[in-house]
Amino acid sequence: MRSKDRLAIALDTDDSVEALRWARDFREVFGYAKVGLELFTSEGPGIIYALRELGYHIFLDLKMHDIPNTVGRAARVAGGYGVDLLTVHTAGGVPMLRAAVEGLAQGAVSAGLELEPRVLGVTFLTSDPAVDESAFLARLDAAAEAGCGGYVCAAAELEIGKERHPELFALVPGIRFKGAEADDQSRVATPSEALGKGADLIVIGRSVTRAADPDAALAMLKVQAAAF
Ligand code: C5P
Repeated sequence: MRSKDRLAIALDTDDSVEALRWARDFREVFGYAKVGLELFTSEGPGIIYALRELGYHIFLDLKMHDIPNTVGRAARVAGGYGVDLLTVHTAGGVPMLRAAVEGLAQGAVSAGLELEPRVLGVTFLTSDPAVDESAFLARLDAAAEAGCGGYVCAAAELEIGKERHPELFALVPGIRFKGAEADDQSRVATPSEALGKGADLIVIGRSVTRAADPDAALAMLKVQAAAF
């Protein structure tokens, strides 16, 4: 797999001009663009279409958590936008996750898209200071039982996650270069550590977008990702 298909840039801003500038500047390195709550709330689906035009796969990180009917219908709308990955909280339970899986697939089919989008179950946030292993595995099992294509976890949980469900796609946020500030993240890892432990996709935001020297950050990332 090309290394850029294992790298997502988190476009965490409320300004579409800034988001699209980052997207253009960084598109040689990142294959996925992450649209999160801030950007989606500010700009709506238009930003997804613009990022797709630039050649990005779309990771829509809305971390849905509501009753199954509501999540299923919202996921269906998201499927019609052409998103590749959509996050849903595993804490919402199997029926809710299943509704998301069905809704997302139906949305893509109804829009005539040839995508096979995946619902990713969020296990625990990387800002959570500590995670109990059995609670993590229970959430992972819920994602698998509901037919999710993958899950989101910290690098620390990757090994047990891959051992339990090797068939699932693992996405890892909380990425920091060695020696950098963790900000509000608790369980951080470097790009090499996360990719080396088997992350299928790592998501990187402030380490690049808010870097004092983004070109140096990109160069460091390219070196680390090229090893995998
Ligand atoms: O700036 P930073 O690299 O910390 O950004 C991480 C991104 O990953 C944020 O957009 C955040 O919403 C997202 N994320 C996370 N933890 C999760 C799921 C997503 O930090 N469990």
